Formats: sequence, C-alpha cells, structure tokens
Amino acid sequence: MTARITGIGTYVPDKIVTNDELAKIMETSDEWIVSRTGIHERRISITEGTRELALKAARNALAAAKTEPEELDIIILGTSSPDYHYPSDACYVQGELGAGNAAAFDISAACSGFIFAMNIVRGFFEAGIYKTGLIIGAETLSKVTNWSDRSTSVLFGDGAGAAVLKAGETGIIDMIMGSDGTMGDVLKCPSRTMGNFLTGEKPEAGFMTMDGQAVFKFAVKKIPETIELLLERNHLAKEDITYYVLHQANERIIEAAARRIREPMEKFPMTIGEYGNTSTASIPLLLSHMERQGMLKPGQKIIMSGFGAGMTWGAALVQWV
Ligand code: UT7
Repeated sequence: MTARITGIGTYVPDKIVTNDELAKIMETSDEWIVSRTGIHERRISITEGTRELALKAARNALAAAKTEPEELDIIILGTSSPDYHYPSDACYVQGELGAGNAAAFDISAACSGFIFAMNIVRGFFEAGIYKTGLIIGAETLSKVTNWSDRSTSVLFGDGAGAAVLKAGETGIIDMIMGSDGTMGDVLKCPSRTMGNFLTGEKPEAGFMTMDGQAVFKFAVKKIPETIELLLERNHLAKEDITYYVLHQANERIIEAAARRIREPMEKFPMTIGEYGNTSTASIPLLLSHMERQGMLKPGQKIIMSGFGAGMTWGAALVQWV
C-alpha cells in the first residue's frame, strides 16, 4: 500500500509585487534579481494569513479530488510562517472545512515541509491506519521578512498549495527525508526573543536571516544526491524520469542541479519567475502549474525534491496515476 495524489489545489494572494516595485523601497534592481535568482515577481498577502491561504488551497484540492471533508483521516500543514503558535493552522483548516474525522497538525520542516508531510501520510497508509489525507504547504513569509534586508526580502513570496492523498497500490514509489541540525544557523527565524517579568524585557517578534551562499552550496549538493539515491535504489535510469519537480528557491540552483546530474532543463519545470520562493508551497504550486499545462500524464515517473532551513531535505519518486 502507498499514497497517490488524487487532487491538487492552490491559492495565491491577488497582489503582485514586481522587482521594480521593490527597487522603490530598497537598493536593488530588476536586473540584479532576475540575473541572480530568475524571480520577476511574487505575491504578497495584504490581509490574508497563512491559514486563510491554506484553507482556500485545501478547498480547491478537495474539489479537484472530488473528496468530501468528512472523508479525510488526517490533515498535515507544513509552514514556516504559521499565524499562531497554537491552535495549529491545520486545526483551523480542519474546523473550517468541517473535516471532523481528521486528526490535524502543523509540521515545521521549512521548504521540505510538503515532502515531509507526504511521507508521514504515506507511512500511515502503509501501516493501514488511514486511507485519505490532505497535505498543505502554506506561507505568508512576507510577515517574517526583514524588509530592510535586500539579500533575503527579494527572494520570498506568499502562497499555498495542497494535495489530497489516497491509499492505493500505485503512486509514491520511494521517499527520502533528512536533517542536519548542525547547519541550523544558516537560515533561521526565531519565533520570539526571550523576555518575561524576571528580565523586564518584552518579547519581540523574530525575522528571517540567511547565509545565502551556504544555502546555495548545500542545495546544489543535496538535490543531486537525493535524486541519484532514489534512482539507484529503485534501479531506474535518468531516462525513466519525465520531470524533476524541485523546490523553487533560485533558478541558478535548479540549473546547477540539472548540470550536476546531466539532465536537460526541459525536464525541470519552473514557477520561480512568477511566485518567487514560496517555501513549503513551491512544490504543490509547481505541480498545479504542470497539471494546468497538461504536462502530467498517468504512468510518468517524476521526482520531487526539496530542501530548506534546519537544514532539512526530502525527495519523492512518484508514478503519476
Ligand atoms: O528555500 C531556501 C531558501 N534560500 C535559498 O535558496 C537561497 C540560496 N542562495 C541564493 O539564492 C543566493 O545566494 C542569493 C540569491 C541569496 C544571493 O546571490 P549570490 O550570487 O550568492 O550573491 P551574494 O550574496 O554573493 O551577493 C553579491 C552582491 C553583494 O554585494 P558585494 O558585496 O559584492 O558588493 C550583495 O550585497 O550582491 C549584493 N546584493 C544585492 N544587490 C542588489 C545582495 N542582495 C541584493 C539585492 N539587490 N537584492
């Protein structure tokens, strides 16, 4: 028994922010951002939080999968920018959907969150515990972005993607998950500073900081490693893979990964240009784009691969059903 995706849904805020608009509030340029990242624009939420984006993506995924909320056994929401410490954004979604039979919780695995959520649900299916799950990657990173730090603020965007998973004989073939906590400092966002009646300090909200080059090097090494490991242990050749659906962090990271595994760029679809880096939402946003373009066909084998703060990484070899 494994898990297969039976419906994908997405939602992004309406507001498009171009590179030129960012150049008005910080020292940057469209030329720098496009040449270093491939990003042209991103969506920024004005009023909707992570849970609202997640709920809308979830509703779209359920409609696409022709699944009723009551059928769900489990809802897992991956996010690096939850609206609340508790209750979880997943519980909010569960309540609003009326998915009363589902256990719901958030996970924090940064940009690998969607892949991690998929693997957890797959585990429940393989164990015969659950049959229907909803996984969501949702972010409003704009609220944890330090808008006076040009090296991070031009990269990220808000958005959400969700997928309904059902237990079945075909679908996910194999998955990888990994973490390296010793690299925690290269990309981080403290939730709040310490502070209480003993210190006399008021806790302050934290903002994201990143050593971009360290993350870049990590990604360019890790993505090919996960792809090659999945191919090797499933006795597959690169020719067997139709698409590599990579976390959309930077066009240059994707190009470097493609070069390392000697695969053509046509096999690496991208949405980084229009959404920027949406962390946990980037893989489902890309899958949805591919579906709308008619690129996904039953029988195709695709590899999804993500990496992110933690550091974390994850990959999935999937036969599209
Ligand atoms: O989901 C995972 C999250 N993170 C990532 O995937 C990030 C991975 N890293 C990257 O994508 C790249 O390292 C960046 C896009 C963040 C930066 O690109 P880079 O080629 O590594 O640039 P850099 O950090 O070496 O900076 C080059 C120059 C610096 O100026 P000096 O010191 O050479 O004078 C920066 O100050 O570019 C400057 N710079 C900018 N200039 C204009 C940094 N950010 C900007 C900016 N606009 N927004």
